[in-house]
Amino acid sequence: MERRFTACIMAAGRGERAGGGEPKQYRQLAGRPVIAWSAETFARHPDCQDMIVVHAPGAAEAAEQALGPLALRVRLVEGGETRHDSVRCAMEAVSAPLVLIHDAARPFISPAMIDRLLAALDHHTGAVPALPLADSIARLDNGRPVPADRAPYRRLQTPQAFHTEALRKAFASHGSASHTDESALAHAAGLDVTLIEGDEMAFKLTFPDDFTRAERLAGGVALTVTGSGFDVHRLAPGEGLTLCGVFIACDLSLVGHSDADAGLHALTDAVLGAAGLGDIGDHFPPSDMRWKGADSALFLTHALTLAREQGLVPVHCDVTLICERPKIGPHKSAMKARLAELTGLAPQRVNVKATTTEKLGFTGRGEGLAAQAVITMRTEI
Ligand code: CTP
Ligand code: MG
Repeated sequence: MERRFTACIMAAGRGERAGGGEPKQYRQLAGRPVIAWSAETFARHPDCQDMIVVHAPGAAEAAEQALGPLALRVRLVEGGETRHDSVRCAMEAVSAPLVLIHDAARPFISPAMIDRLLAALDHHTGAVPALPLADSIARLDNGRPVPADRAPYRRLQTPQAFHTEALRKAFASHGSASHTDESALAHAAGLDVTLIEGDEMAFKLTFPDDFTRAERLAGGVALTVTGSGFDVHRLAPGEGLTLCGVFIACDLSLVGHSDADAGLHALTDAVLGAAGLGDIGDHFPPSDMRWKGADSALFLTHALTLAREQGLVPVHCDVTLICERPKIGPHKSAMKARLAELTGLAPQRVNVKATTTEKLGFTGRGEGLAAQAVITMRTEI
């Protein structure tokens, strides 16, 4: 079945109940504007053909700024006085056969929920995420609680998904009355709407406290990336060498343009890999005399700064040194401490391992030393 959809992100509200000065959809949440969270999830979905963001009159620039690079994939449309009016404005610009209408104020939507909605549209005209009520329900009678049966009720969320033409027709025939969401409009128009399993994470930022909760949760849904690095340097007779930022006095040295610290080079490449920034040679070309004999801690620190500019901070790193000599064991804890210092990680989130290659290959013959590194990084909270 055809599953291409247009995502309409409704962001024309004033966010009065949330307070906070600016409209809630443009406020920062764990380092990213609220609206960018769901826009990113849609943008990454393989069936997302395009996106429409509906903003309040005069707020096009605020929307564009909050979307950042995602703005390139978005058509901006001016909304109306009520959410219902805003959705109507969006519908005029929808081009895909399916449409997902979403509240910008629900940042944490999952690709799995989008998939459930799209699958449901194979058999139904509309699909809406729903959750049961957990608390007891009471009807107020002159301010006094009268027990009510919660069983038949559901909490409805967004995105709400429809066959585009059917929803357009519903607007044409029943759109004059204002509905709080598309399921209500669809009901009025007699469309076949099914419920799919909702997601507690897809809650709506409505009141000030919702932001506190969202900030806390963002820790668990922040983007996590991994990078790997590998480096080799030739060994020669000498008076010592530096590995993972620690000097080891021995009768060997490492040959290279900088201080040839293969451990730090591998880790620097891992950081650049995690941040999608190429490799160490792109940033510190061996042809550049500035790096002759340089302390490789400089490279790592610079790569971490570049990653941080993208909002990425280290979570964990693991370095493996591969050589017969020098013996790494006695220096592992010093190396770990130095890496913790350079990365800002807690010592238990840093690991240094050493291995030989059983006298095989160039490392086995003592011609060179190799290092591997893996780093996990996460968007800053
Ligand atoms: N919305 C919209 N156009 C409107 C009103 C609301 O696009 N005229 C959007 C909001 O930006 C929000 C979503 O619809 O993403 C859900 O509405 P709600 O939570 O009520 O947001 P606000 O109307 O902004 O908040 P409040 O009612 O507290 O002012
Ligand atoms: Mg509102």
